[in-house]
Amino acid sequence: MRSLLFVLSLICFCSQTTLSWKKEEFRSCDQTPFCKRARSRTPGACSLIVGDVSITDGDLVAKLLLNQEDGDQIKPLVLSLTVYKDGIVRLRVDEDHTLNPPKKRFRVPDVVVSEFEEKKIWLQKLATETISGDTSPSSVVYVSDGYEAVVRHDPFEVYVREKSGDRRRVVSLNSHGLFDFEQLGKKTEGDNWEEKFRTHTDSRPFGPQSISFDVSFYDSSFVYGIPEHATSFALKPTKGPGVEESEPYRLFNLDVFEYDHESPFGLYGSIPFMVSHGKSGKTCGFFWLNAAEMQIDVLANGWDAESGISLPSSQSRIDTLWMSEAGIVDTFFFVGPEPKDVVKQYASVTGTSAMPQLFATGYHQCRWNYKDEEDVAQVDSKFDEHDIPYDVLWLDIEHTDGKRYFTWDSVLFPHPEEMQKKLAAKGRKMVTIVDPHIKRDDSYFLHKEATHMGHYVKDSSGKDFDGWCWPGSSSYIDMLSPEIREWWGGRFSYKNYAGSTPSLYIWNDMNEPSVFNGPEVTMPRDALHVGGVEHREVHNAYGYYFHMATSDGLVMRGEGKDRPFVLSRAIFPGTQRYGAIWTGDNTAEWEHLRVSIPMILTLGLTGITFSGADIGGFFGNPEPELLVRWYQVGAYYPFFRGHAHHDTKRREPWLFGERNTELMRDAIHTRYMLLPYFYTLFREANVTGVPVVRPLWMEFPQDEATFSNDEAFMVGDGLLVQGVYTKGTTHASVYLPGKESWFDLRNGKTYVGGKTHKMDAPEESIPAFQKAGTIIPRKDRFRRSSSQMDNDPYTLVVALNSSQEAAGELYIDDGKSFEFRRGAYIHRRFVFSNGVLTSTNLAPPQARLSSQCLIDRIILLGHSSGPKSALVEPLNQKAEIEMGPLRMGGLVASSGTKVLTIRKPGVRVDQDWTVKIL
Ligand code: NOJ
Repeated sequence: MRSLLFVLSLICFCSQTTLSWKKEEFRSCDQTPFCKRARSRTPGACSLIVGDVSITDGDLVAKLLLNQEDGDQIKPLVLSLTVYKDGIVRLRVDEDHTLNPPKKRFRVPDVVVSEFEEKKIWLQKLATETISGDTSPSSVVYVSDGYEAVVRHDPFEVYVREKSGDRRRVVSLNSHGLFDFEQLGKKTEGDNWEEKFRTHTDSRPFGPQSISFDVSFYDSSFVYGIPEHATSFALKPTKGPGVEESEPYRLFNLDVFEYDHESPFGLYGSIPFMVSHGKSGKTCGFFWLNAAEMQIDVLANGWDAESGISLPSSQSRIDTLWMSEAGIVDTFFFVGPEPKDVVKQYASVTGTSAMPQLFATGYHQCRWNYKDEEDVAQVDSKFDEHDIPYDVLWLDIEHTDGKRYFTWDSVLFPHPEEMQKKLAAKGRKMVTIVDPHIKRDDSYFLHKEATHMGHYVKDSSGKDFDGWCWPGSSSYIDMLSPEIREWWGGRFSYKNYAGSTPSLYIWNDMNEPSVFNGPEVTMPRDALHVGGVEHREVHNAYGYYFHMATSDGLVMRGEGKDRPFVLSRAIFPGTQRYGAIWTGDNTAEWEHLRVSIPMILTLGLTGITFSGADIGGFFGNPEPELLVRWYQVGAYYPFFRGHAHHDTKRREPWLFGERNTELMRDAIHTRYMLLPYFYTLFREANVTGVPVVRPLWMEFPQDEATFSNDEAFMVGDGLLVQGVYTKGTTHASVYLPGKESWFDLRNGKTYVGGKTHKMDAPEESIPAFQKAGTIIPRKDRFRRSSSQMDNDPYTLVVALNSSQEAAGELYIDDGKSFEFRRGAYIHRRFVFSNGVLTSTNLAPPQARLSSQCLIDRIILLGHSSGPKSALVEPLNQKAEIEMGPLRMGGLVASSGTKVLTIRKPGVRVDQDWTVKIL
């Protein structure tokens, strides 16, 4: 009976395609005891003080003790503060292991990159200072030339401040005394620690173990980050004056069905990293490495009016409250001060994003599902018929034999290898889906092996956890174990994955993990991982480990020679090292198109640059205008994929009449033309952590008008794109920051910076501009896929600033292997100055890659005179200069400005040369 009821509810769950988000399926803060407790604490509640301070092994080490008067219910906690180069402070607080806590609290391994420890600054000495009003001295340590960290003893507080001037604060913890650390308990008779939600009971064998504290960001106008939420880029306050009622921002990886386009509710991924930015142009950041459920409040100005706590009034400030169900305090303070410094500091802890293969930066065509091999062949040939480039065709869960991953439906996909080879012959790839739930079927080889080897997560009683997902009764691989991850990786070898070929890559979905009959559609918190780690402690990192194991598996498959491509839905800090992600099951609505930009900007700011939203919206049927606008915006997403639910109508780009096909083709062509620029930006992200798609304030940190703009975005430092997010719009207001001009990408028209322009947004394109002073590399020939463009010549678009100067870069490698790590790449710098364009080498001398590719065209935007020719050195040849309309994409610009084009200068992309305008 129970199982019948369950199957019925499952049918309901899966066919809810026309309903919207079911709020009651998920816990609110009020229904989450640790959140409710933390949220109701009042400022100053913390009575811990700092004692026993010393410098040990280069760290500041101390105890957090209760104030004498408060008795001894809490055992002393251990605090350590470590300083790293480039303005990073790490603060850890945990229970004292020498005092025999019931077990070790979970410290998240495998996220902080190993190189990070090399940046440690070994503290030698400790200064003391009595802060005015305090009765006891505090400890002060060196952070960098400009900054120092203060550990205030009584009351306990930690902050980073500038060293000179009026020693402005940067970021602080526990300035409002909300720090609380619930210690693990040993159950005794009569203790009932169970927590119930709907039909589920969490046994909570160690009792309450949550941690909470307040964090303040100084000289700040806005805070950003902490994905994944569908909400504005600048985070709105969730508590305090002016906020009627709001949930905190939740970080708990969940499979949220039909999510709302505006909500602090947590989606599929969690990155507890917040960034603040303010009028001074300064940025700082705070990161809490913790994988348990987290809730974060952004507190509205004045929330603490009655607290009696006073902080420097000369500094604007944003206060936040951080609450987590379990784990330890392992936090990082990043001093910035520039926006790019903060993202680099965070990247030095969690890693930069993996360098994708070139194909992965092109267009991906997905659908749940392409039915069979014939369907695949048809879709593939239609792209060619309609002259639309694409790189990857995707197969969703229906391609398998009964949702048994690593298998093929033998009727629908009888010749998987042949199918992949046909695509590969045109330079195209295939992606198949592999989820973490394994069908509990005794005749399924994977289930047999995983059961036999004990590779599944256990339920609280120690049996293999059994939950429902697509295949029905399923178990979940325990990705926390390095041995199991290695075993999992081995499943991707050509031998183990029958029917796979070298052009097949992987999609990891449902890895929050999604469990249809679990509490909040996920795994029970008291399920057990290797080493007795409770699921509650590791929940938000489960999908990360799965992604990691799959990505490493593809590296093994290719014997370390082929860069992996794995798309993941769940995310955690460090995800950027393993592949791309997408924003999950959005809806075919204009507001979902709009919110995709703040979501992608947030992900980029917090390390994950390779992201995108399903073009067209996953649920529902987009009207053609929405679909076209989505392609136009999506062409600038770092990850560019069309995808749709199986209940939706087919929506490949040629199905909406000739004109719409033309518009979508043009959007996709634009992306392909810009691939050299995107690839160069992916390399920048790979080296530095600076994202491909950026908020305007990352490039214009002083410009307040940009701080809350999340409808426009920068692609690199050279392009500004303004999406169109409303039906029937033919005009857009676009704010163009800075002092320099901007050139309309489509027709070369010039617009002054520092102003909002009302401009046309005809159906042909969305507004996009190149910043004066930049040089953007393109490839203008239209091909079927990115690999077919390999030998094509380049176009350089030189947008001159008011001093008639410009600069830009181009990065090239083989687009697929890891040879770039051994120096097999080309990195050029182009500078235009005094009428001369110069190409110089940026790669180290040992870098060795050559290319026969030529620069075919140099377009000069904003050139003041009308020269006729140019001198190319060292060839000592003349090249013609033409005056003509700017061409971008297949559609003819409605009103074009004439621009100068140097035709066929004949220079190679891998060599030094100059082109002098005569
Ligand atoms: C949920 C994913 O978010 C969606 O993209 C996919 O199509 C379905 N699962 C089926 O695999």
